[in-house]
Amino acid sequence: MTLALDAAAQDLLFREARTANTFSDEPVGDEQIQAIYELVKFGPTAFNQQPLRIVLVRSDDARARLVQHMSEGNQAKTSGAPLVAILAADNEFHEELPTQLPHFPQAKDMFFSERSVREASATLNGALQAAYFIVGVRAAGLAAGPMTGYDAAGINKEFFADGEHSVLAVVNIGKPGEDAWFPRSPRLAYDEVVTTV
Ligand SMILES: Cc1cc2nc3c(=O)[nH]c(=O)nc-3n(C[C@H](O)[C@H](O)[C@H](O)COP(=O)(O)O)c2cc1C
Repeated sequence: MTLALDAAAQDLLFREARTANTFSDEPVGDEQIQAIYELVKFGPTAFNQQPLRIVLVRSDDARARLVQHMSEGNQAKTSGAPLVAILAADNEFHEELPTQLPHFPQAKDMFFSERSVREASATLNGALQAAYFIVGVRAAGLAAGPMTGYDAAGINKEFFADGEHSVLAVVNIGKPGEDAWFPRSPRLAYDEVVTTV
């Protein structure tokens, strides 16, 4: 009763949503990913910087180039998912900042002239956007399988030869297949997480 979101949507996004480890053959279309993006693009980022970039891995060649960099335990599911997305942070997001932040275009030079500062900000804000994306996948009635078990340097070299992007996660996307779930692991209780000062 306390939440504004209806109970069915709460279940879809969180309570009944699970991390899928196998997938059915049902394809995931570009229009579904576009609908997800058009929703989750409204999630907030610092200075409205929006550093997330998404590479949809559709060709067999690209899939093979990705799978070779996944850890052994992630290779089968990355090969079998109907669609795989590489989520990356654009460490040069500041170039577009005056467009994204028209009321404060000076922010680009005031805050983001140093690469190390940009990288830290892009990592944090790109990870936030990755989380919005995962929830968006669930909102589309699909299951997500996010993974960070991979050779990040290998993926960066393979897919982002410009040296300006850093992979944040690889996400398998689709309808769950047989035996898709590991047992649900316990979540921390409210009192273990929340303190009031
Ligand atoms: C950022 C991130 C990285 C993850 N990396 C892997 C991975 O490399 N391999 C894997 O099998 N699961 C990976 N997982 C899946 C988590 O173990 C899973 O989401 C978590 O245990 C919750 O599972 P549930 O949604 O079924 O409750 C990852 C999840 C996240 C969010």
